[in-house]
Amino acid sequence: MPEEKETASRFRFVDLHPQAQDVRADVLAGLSTTPKRIPPKYFYDRRGSELFEQICRLPEYYLTRTEFKILKGNKQEIAAALPRRCWFIEFGSGSSRKVELLIESCDPMAYVPIDISASQLRGSGTRLAERYRDLDVFAVHGDYTQPSSLPDNLLGYPRVAYFPGSSIGNFTHDEAREFLLRTKHLIGHDGRLLVGVDKRKSPDLIEAAYYDADGVTSDFSLNVLKHLNDRTGANFAVDKFAHRAKYSEADGHLAMHLRSLERQVVLVGNETISIAKGELIHTEDSFKYSFDEFEKLAATSGLTCTHRWTDNENLFMVLLLKPESA
Ligand code: AVJ
Repeated sequence: MPEEKETASRFRFVDLHPQAQDVRADVLAGLSTTPKRIPPKYFYDRRGSELFEQICRLPEYYLTRTEFKILKGNKQEIAAALPRRCWFIEFGSGSSRKVELLIESCDPMAYVPIDISASQLRGSGTRLAERYRDLDVFAVHGDYTQPSSLPDNLLGYPRVAYFPGSSIGNFTHDEAREFLLRTKHLIGHDGRLLVGVDKRKSPDLIEAAYYDADGVTSDFSLNVLKHLNDRTGANFAVDKFAHRAKYSEADGHLAMHLRSLERQVVLVGNETISIAKGELIHTEDSFKYSFDEFEKLAATSGLTCTHRWTDNENLFMVLLLKPESA
């Protein structure tokens, strides 16, 4: 049962306790496969969310500022393409900065941000509820990668799902297809999905975005180990790992790993995990798409692209999708 708390006029906080399940078991399962994996959602503790905000301001990280530019330059057109008096549902709302722009031009009835980081969700949710006094904000502390990430008694309609930042790139193509299918059901026949997608481009530009000169992404990448130490009582030695980001142009696939600098044994609860020197722990995928590729992928989930907005340099795209009519 979600618990609800009223903390401001039109702000509600619904806690689905996304990580109350056994984090240790989850992490151990990932570390027992070959290659070893840690799901990217564990990046976002308080420190990780701060580091991600810093990443968004890096010169090398073109994604955030480009998406902003696209939204700013097209906000009237976007508003005109969305249903009136809609509900905005945002997956992984973080700082909620982009949606703010849209709230001004689109004037939605309600905003439903979903995020794994309770502290950030609370902060941004109350900020928006205070700024837009007639907007209902239903903040959902949940894991949007899970099917049960939204209580449906929280939904009015028409519904617009908002998924900015190219976070859809965190999913493999198969996972993205599943997510799009679930989203199609969530928004219903008169709903829309507004999604930000990073484009394929020069490998150098992409790798620089995930391996910045100041080492902020490296700090972000390594912080996941500290977070896991805090949450599960593991004893990862953060300085025995290095950040790695590699792009495969053939697959449009940027992968982030942690590389073990030496042979080591890590304790997670009572279990010992042996890690070889040079072994890689996979932490994140960030798939890049051409427009045609993404359009095809969406079509296999029954979503049709009705609008496409891009920047002058063609770095990033914001797409509006609707369920293909029966
Ligand atoms: C938040 C998933 C969109 O993949 O670009 C940034 C996360 N990781 N730098 C991305 C991230 C390293 C980001 N997303």
